[in-house]
Amino acid sequence: MSKQSYFFANWKMYLDFDEANILANAIAAEHKKFPDHVKMAIFPNALSLYSAGQVLNDVGIAVGGQNVFWEDKGGYTGEISATMYKAAGCEYALVGHSERRHQFHETNHEVRQKMQAILEAGLTPVLCVGETKEERVAGKTDEVIETQLRSAFHELSWPAEKGLIVAYEPVWAIGTGEACDPNEAERLHALMKKMLNELAPGTLPILLYGGSVRPENVFDYLKQPDINGVLVGGAATKLESFMSILSNIK
Ligand code: 13P
Repeated sequence: MSKQSYFFANWKMYLDFDEANILANAIAAEHKKFPDHVKMAIFPNALSLYSAGQVLNDVGIAVGGQNVFWEDKGGYTGEISATMYKAAGCEYALVGHSERRHQFHETNHEVRQKMQAILEAGLTPVLCVGETKEERVAGKTDEVIETQLRSAFHELSWPAEKGLIVAYEPVWAIGTGEACDPNEAERLHALMKKMLNELAPGTLPILLYGGSVRPENVFDYLKQPDINGVLVGGAATKLESFMSILSNIK
């Protein structure tokens, strides 16, 4: 029997409103090919999330927000709260994605505030951590992951029964075609699992790998003992490669 696996797709800002809805409909039309052992979730842009979500939910695919703000309501022009995403039908929210950390200067402290808002809204976070190329070359990979994880859970007691997903996404592997060696990804997943045991005791965290996942390499990650699934960007924004990744999840 195949193990339960997770295929999460972050559409980032790659697709506009029409493109996101067209792709959601095209994926939904293939639902008879969805394997039972794969749990899927898609993170469309905030504008297409509701309409795409209705189509995707109907065929068992969950949706999530790409970024949330930590306050519920108020004078925060341009922001969307975790509770608003929840009300729009989301089950998940990405938090601390490296594009937010590095392009929008999101800090570990802000990630921590978002984690709390996500918890209170009843969403499941997909907390993203990962090192830059410079950090890896300087031998700081483990330290960076540890700091990002520790600060995300700082003075936050995660209820054992609440869902918890953590994605290891090395920054240098995202959108570059330079995917992380699966054994090295496994080493870091094992490290994260150990740390989460201490930071969020009693939870059974789901661990994902992200960064240049393709149909050809997806199973190299999924066959690792501590990797439960993948978080895919570019290759999940086209029907053909989306379905091809799915068919390679054995
Ligand atoms: P790519 O699959 O395009 O490398 O992106 C990974 C990612 O950032 C998913 O969140």
